[in-house]
Amino acid sequence: MDELIDAAAAPYRNAGRFPWHFARGKLAHDPIFAELLTRGLIPDGAHVLDLGCGLGLLSSWLTAAQDLWRRAAWPAAWPKPPRLASYHGIEWVGREATRACEALKAGIVTCGDIRTSAFGAANVVAIFDVLHYIDCASQDGVLERVHEALTPRGGLLLLRIGDAAAGWRFQVTRLVDVLMTSIRRARWQRVHCRPLASWLARLDALGFDVAVAPMSDGTPFANVLLVARLPAADARSVVDGRRTTSSNT
Ligand SMILES: C[S@@+](CC[C@H](N)C(=O)[O-])C[C@H]1O[C@@H](n2cnc3c(N)ncnc32)[C@H](O)[C@@H]1O
Repeated sequence: MDELIDAAAAPYRNAGRFPWHFARGKLAHDPIFAELLTRGLIPDGAHVLDLGCGLGLLSSWLTAAQDLWRRAAWPAAWPKPPRLASYHGIEWVGREATRACEALKAGIVTCGDIRTSAFGAANVVAIFDVLHYIDCASQDGVLERVHEALTPRGGLLLLRIGDAAAGWRFQVTRLVDVLMTSIRRARWQRVHCRPLASWLARLDALGFDVAVAPMSDGTPFANVLLVARLPAADARSVVDGRRTTSSNT
């Protein structure tokens, strides 16, 4: 695990000391990165679209995992890591997008607003800790466009949210998030949080089959990973007449 964290953080040295330290800390302490691999959540040959990707850590993590696998340095108990067919990140803050490109590859992350940027084709969409920064109508708009991007071949949405119904753990999550983001941006950051049940209802209405995985191990937070699978369009119309197209949801 330490070798994987070091390898995934190493490219960020090219972007400066802060991005490198940040990458190491986040990869080591945020449980989602290891869970994606130990649960084998991302399929081989994935075309990944990472919305609100920050430094593009997911790309570096999966690439480093593949390298370790090829060098036979992979933990025997973990499933084979996925090979990335493509990765595209969209990030609002220009400085983060620039650092990601300096560290990883020119153009791998584009600076843009996920409310309006074109998504292109993908079969895996990752949105980790992002949607609460935009209002609820915009959240729904993004989810509808993710649904369109995954149609007609079907695919996977990995969406991590803070569960607004999770009591004091949610209050801690929100407080830390608002304080950290407001300090970094030098302006007060508003957030728009929803209870888990509301996210599930929204995804269900769009035709996703959703599994819920707590994603706060070792932290005081109320984060939940929604593993939302969208069957291919032709399979959907057979499986469930209620969910034939995005236009009737
Ligand atoms: C908490 S960070 C998570 C970064 C990344 N998903 C990760 O897990 O490492 C949230 C990111 O979402 C970005 N973001 C917020 N609103 C956005 C928007 N409307 N369009 C694109 N990115 C956005 C922020 O700039 C920030 O980098």
